[in-house]
Amino acid sequence: MMDASAPEFRHWRLRREADGLAWLDIDVAGASTNVLSAEVMAELAVLLDLFERKPPRALVIASGKPAGFIAGADVEEFARLDSPAAARALVERGWQLFNRLAAVRYPTLALIRGHCMGGGLELALACRRRLVVDEPGTKLALPEVMLGIVPAWGGMLRLPQLIGPAAALDMMLTGKPVNARKAKRLGLADDCVPARVMDAAARILALGGRPARAPALVERVSRRAMNGPLRRLVADRARQQTAAKVRREHYPAPYAIIDIWERYEGNALAVPAGDPASLEAIFSSPTARNLVRVFFLQERLKAFGKGAGPAPAHVHVVGAGVMGGDIAAVCALAGLKVSLQDQSVARIAPAIARAAKLFERRLKGDARRLRFALDRLIPDPHGDGAARADLIIEAIVEDLEVKCSLFTQLERRARPDAVLATNTSSLPLEEIAAALREPSRLVGIHFFNPVAQLPLVEVVRGEATGAEVVRRAIAFVRGIDKLPLPVKSAPGFLVNAVLGPYMLEALRCVEEGIPPETVDAALVEFGMPIGPVELVDTVGLDVALAAGRRLAGEGAAPPARLLQKVEAGQLGKKSGQGYYRWDDGKAQKQSTQAGERAGGRLGFGRKRGEAGREAPPAPPPGLAERILAPLYAAAARLVDEGVVADEDLADAGVIFGTGFAPFTGGPLHLLRSSGKTPISGAGGAVDGEGLEQRRQREAEGR
Ligand code: NAI
Repeated sequence: MMDASAPEFRHWRLRREADGLAWLDIDVAGASTNVLSAEVMAELAVLLDLFERKPPRALVIASGKPAGFIAGADVEEFARLDSPAAARALVERGWQLFNRLAAVRYPTLALIRGHCMGGGLELALACRRRLVVDEPGTKLALPEVMLGIVPAWGGMLRLPQLIGPAAALDMMLTGKPVNARKAKRLGLADDCVPARVMDAAARILALGGRPARAPALVERVSRRAMNGPLRRLVADRARQQTAAKVRREHYPAPYAIIDIWERYEGNALAVPAGDPASLEAIFSSPTARNLVRVFFLQERLKAFGKGAGPAPAHVHVVGAGVMGGDIAAVCALAGLKVSLQDQSVARIAPAIARAAKLFERRLKGDARRLRFALDRLIPDPHGDGAARADLIIEAIVEDLEVKCSLFTQLERRARPDAVLATNTSSLPLEEIAAALREPSRLVGIHFFNPVAQLPLVEVVRGEATGAEVVRRAIAFVRGIDKLPLPVKSAPGFLVNAVLGPYMLEALRCVEEGIPPETVDAALVEFGMPIGPVELVDTVGLDVALAAGRRLAGEGAAPPARLLQKVEAGQLGKKSGQGYYRWDDGKAQKQSTQAGERAGGRLGFGRKRGEAGREAPPAPPPGLAERILAPLYAAAARLVDEGVVADEDLADAGVIFGTGFAPFTGGPLHLLRSSGKTPISGAGGAVDGEGLEQRRQREAEGR
């Protein structure tokens, strides 16, 4: 029964049942996902007025959209805020409205199916109860910290009260989502039910049914202690863990969250303006603006997949090594059918074992989904899947002849409409495509190592690659929830072409006698997730040497120490010795201690420096800038040469492909906002040489 007395709402649908239970569905007009814009919030305020005049027996708030509950506040609205006062007003609006919702006398329940993020979770927290639907898509998070801001609409107040400050701070400081079952385990949800019974369960629970999960006495006592007398201790511990990952001058928000919880009862509005945890400080720091920029860059990469058509249903991967094995695993995890080919079953087996571990980690004990994911991943030593697949990805040894001969066979076996893709890092697409009768069928789909962790995938367009083939490759990348970056075929594409000269400059510094620890510390201090020398060790010195030669040409002399080490078989992490000695997968740095690691991480890419918190010799001023200059120069050059379409996309690629300090907004943005221009040639031969020159030189075999 519709409420006859209700005014018209654009974004909410109200239905009152005869027994007094009211259902309020949020269904934001003109959008596929619900976001809490000013207008949506204003309508909710009117609805609360309405309920004040005529209280329901109980109120269930749910989503009217198939896409999930609420994705959060409206980031575009937030990005338009032009003053700290406007930011304060926005915070005030949500804080007060949700306090009002929390104070109503009738029982309230949020029925959560699908994503429930940021402001959406804060709304749910203001309800008396929360019921979550047990589906893979159900995810609850307070990811404000990823945007450089704080959950100021009551999240910092209510989440610690509900689930205890340790778990709450972990969620707020990492921004990581919890699934339906974990939400129940944490006490964030009162119950977790399958979709088919959700309405009935919501009705019973809202009308006073007993929640399935009530915290035990011990849990209540310990929670009270941690929110009370032990608050200081908990806050200090959280600060320590945060400091092991990020610095306050780079990322003020996580520190502000801890301060606001500890000293201001979770109320951001109560923090005086001069305090570093104040809204004024947070909103005026470049970090928040830059992280919002990174958010939009990410949306832009995602948008390449819009209208790109459906993802392929069956992917055939050839090569079950480091890359192929993990690509296959990630595809199977995303729901695709995958056949995985290599020279023998023995070569495929380790990849399957690795995949099983990944599935266990990601599916967290959901035995049914784990089984299904493993069923989708089919070892295929004879390559029978090639004849049926929609997409074939080649990830075998980096050898032109071997790849060409494989593609000649694949083209014969594959369906005529199947897309053929190579994961090559360094071979020109055109030379591989020459092995095909129809070179337009070949596209580069270039993943990064470790595949399961790095979100970026370069989609490489060779000279002959057909537009439709590129489109389908992009649809595939989105289908496995990665971020596609379209690039033109050129040595190193974007990401390796900027990393190469950067790593080279770092090695030159080492050559000059600066300790690797000092070089790495300078860049970690700058905000990189891992130092460049440690990165060389991780990639492998042999791989770095070969890549450097391909990028810079055989003529350019590699650093002498790099050559010596490769000749001596010191290849880095994989051989136990490179620029560092490696024990137990960790670089052993001088005057460093393996720091304690907090769970989760902020931002993107890899964790901050493998060796954890370190106290190395203080890097000389300007060292980081010197090593970064060739990276900036390379990024700018690649934009000029059209390898990547524009500066924003170059920044997006470098951030999501390398973990480049997200708080800076990306290398070219940083350069532009600091008023500098890239110093061409700072990276030596690599940057002094243009693409055309290089092509010509390579063509002439010089
Ligand atoms: P890998 O050496 O770990 O694995 C290659 C696999 O291919 C081996 O298992 C080998 O048995 C198999 N193989 C070789 N010839 C084959 C054939 N004719 N038919 C079937 N299987 C065959 O190599 P990795 O590191 O996985 O590299 C594979 C490709 O990915 C290369 O093109 C490389 O440039 C590229 N790549 C590598 C990255 C890395 O960090 N390792 C990053 C991005 C791309």
